[in-house]
Amino acid sequence: MKTLIRNPFVLTPYVPEEYFCDREKETAQLCKHILNGRNVALFANRRLGKTGLIRHCFQKKEIKESFHTFLVDIYSAGSLKEMASLFAKAVFSSSGVSGLRDKLLKGLKSITPVIGYNELTSSFSVSAGIRDIPEPERTIEEILSVLDSMKRPVVLALDEFQRIRDFKENNTEAYLRTVFQKCENIQFIYTGSIGHSMNNIFKSPSKPFYNSAVMMTLDVIDRDVYKDFALRMFRQYGKDIEENLIYKCYDYFSGVTWYNQLLMNEAFSQTEKGDKIKEKDFESIYDAIIAQQAFSYQELFSRFSEKQKALLLAIAHEGKEGSEITSKEFMNKYGIGPASSIQTACSALKKNGFISNNGNRKVITDLIFRDWIRNN
Ligand SMILES: Nc1ncnc2c1ncn2[C@@H]1O[C@H](COP(=O)(O)OP(=O)(O)O)[C@@H](O)[C@H]1O
Ligand SMILES: [Mg+2]
Repeated sequence: MKTLIRNPFVLTPYVPEEYFCDREKETAQLCKHILNGRNVALFANRRLGKTGLIRHCFQKKEIKESFHTFLVDIYSAGSLKEMASLFAKAVFSSSGVSGLRDKLLKGLKSITPVIGYNELTSSFSVSAGIRDIPEPERTIEEILSVLDSMKRPVVLALDEFQRIRDFKENNTEAYLRTVFQKCENIQFIYTGSIGHSMNNIFKSPSKPFYNSAVMMTLDVIDRDVYKDFALRMFRQYGKDIEENLIYKCYDYFSGVTWYNQLLMNEAFSQTEKGDKIKEKDFESIYDAIIAQQAFSYQELFSRFSEKQKALLLAIAHEGKEGSEITSKEFMNKYGIGPASSIQTACSALKKNGFISNNGNRKVITDLIFRDWIRNN
C-alpha cells in the first residue's frame, strides 16, 4: 500500500510557508509598506498570487505580532449590501483576536446576532444576522469603528476591490473613501486585476481614491526560481522530474502561478517514489487536468446562451493573443453577428469573468476552459 504523502504543490490560496514559492522581494516590500503605515494598492493579473502574497505577509512574525489582520474577498459582491455582508462574515469568523467578537456584538447595532448550536461538536457559535442587512452603510461604519478602536493597529485587505465599480449603488467610491479616511487605526490593502477598473479607481486624479495608496504590482515568478522550487519539492519526497518538463509546463501558460501549480501538482501525483517524470509525459499530465475539470465545464457551458456559446467557441479557436470580436473578419470566419449581439454576449461573459481583455482583444480567462472548449 502507498503511504499517503502531502502533495507539496498547493492549489488553495492558503499556501503554508514551506510550500510557498519565492516572492521574497514582494513579501519584503509589502511588509515594509504595512510596517510604515501605508495603504497599498496591489495590481496584478488574475491567478498570479495576490491573495497568496497577502496571506503570506499576514503570517510573518513582524506583522502578526504588531497588527490585527483581516482579508475580505469582495469578488462575489454586486452591491454595498453584499459587501457589508462579506465584511461582517469575515470579521466575525476571524479567530484568534481575543475580545473581538464581544466588541462586535456590542458595537453592531444595525444587525442582529444569530446564535447557532452545532450538535456534532456541542458548541455554540455567534454570528451576525448577515442575511439581513437593512442599512449597509451603517453596518460598514460600525464594523470599521470596532476595528478602529482595537488596541493594535489593523490591516484590512479588500481583495478584488475593483468590484466596487460595478455596485448597484451610485457614489460607492466617494462614500467608501470618506469612511475609510476617518479610520485612524486601520491601514488598507486594495487588490485588483490590472486593467481599466483598478486604474480608474487609483490613477485618475478626479477620483476619490486617487493618491490614497502606494502602488505595487506582481509579475510571474521567475522561470528558473520556479524550476528550482519544483525540483526541490519533488526531491524532498524522493521523486524526480526532468527540468525540461518544468519549463514546458511553465511556458505553456506563460508562467502564471496557478497553472504552474496545477500542472506540477498533477505531475507529482503521477510520479511514483523513486521515479523520474519526463518531458514526454506532458500530454498525460495535461489530459488528466482537462479530464478533472470536464464535468464542471460541461455543466457551466450548458448554462450559457446560444450566442454566448458561439462566441466562446470562436474565441477558443483563435490564438493565445485573443480576438477582435467585432471585426468583419472574425464575424465572417465564425458566422456570428451582428456586432451588437456579440457585444451583449461579451459583456455578460466579461462581467462574470469568463472573458477578459488583452488590449482591445478578447481572451477566455481560464486557459484550461479554453482548451476544453476547443477539444469539444
Ligand atoms: N508563491 C506561491 N507559491 C506557491 N503557490 C502559489 C504562490 N502564489 C500563489 N500560489 C498558488 O496560485 C493560486 C493562485 O494564487 P492567488 O493568490 O489566489 O492569485 P490571485 O489572488 O492573484 O488571483 C493559489 O491558489 C495558490 O495555489
Ligand atoms: Mg485573489
